Amino acid sequence: MKYKAAVITLSDKAYHGEREDLSGKKLVSLLENSGLYSEIEYVLLSDDRLSIASELKRLVKEGFDLVLTTGGTGLSGRDNTPEATKDVIDKEVPGISELIRYESFKITKRAALSRAVSGIAGKTLIINMPGSLKAVTESYEIIKDIIPHALETINSNGSLNCGR
Ligand code: MTE
Repeated sequence: MKYKAAVITLSDKAYHGEREDLSGKKLVSLLENSGLYSEIEYVLLSDDRLSIASELKRLVKEGFDLVLTTGGTGLSGRDNTPEATKDVIDKEVPGISELIRYESFKITKRAALSRAVSGIAGKTLIINMPGSLKAVTESYEIIKDIIPHALETINSNGSLNCGR
């Protein structure tokens, strides 16, 4: 239980109380069940790019190890999560999003409609996931096994042996 995690749901409808946010709550419970995190913060925001970026920056500044976002990765005019994430990250980690899309293609071709990105800001790993309960549950299942090693690597200062 050594890491601090945050889940951010990006949804205009959930933010304005027009829809319950099941996806963010699901992600929180999946993180809780992993037993890896001493703290899990839950945030619900609208799809406003500047608010998303400023919330991500706060979490980075406060030393969160992992931030999972859900929603706002699609093609509509208000889908701003990948852009806000790119505003904040120092380095992209494309393989995480590639893996999510690659495995998701086996479930639905609509996985191609998620523009999700992943990256590191400071020592915080940020991973975008799509917004539906189904998509977020599938996406977490796809990457859950590599998250611990990713977090270890980020905190290792280059000293970690990856088994080579
Ligand atoms: N990925 C998985 N694994 N399962 C899904 O059902 N839905 C797709 C895609 N990725 C889906 C998925 C659909 S229909 C859309 S529109 C995009 O994610 C973007 O979703 P978002 O706009 O809610 O982020």
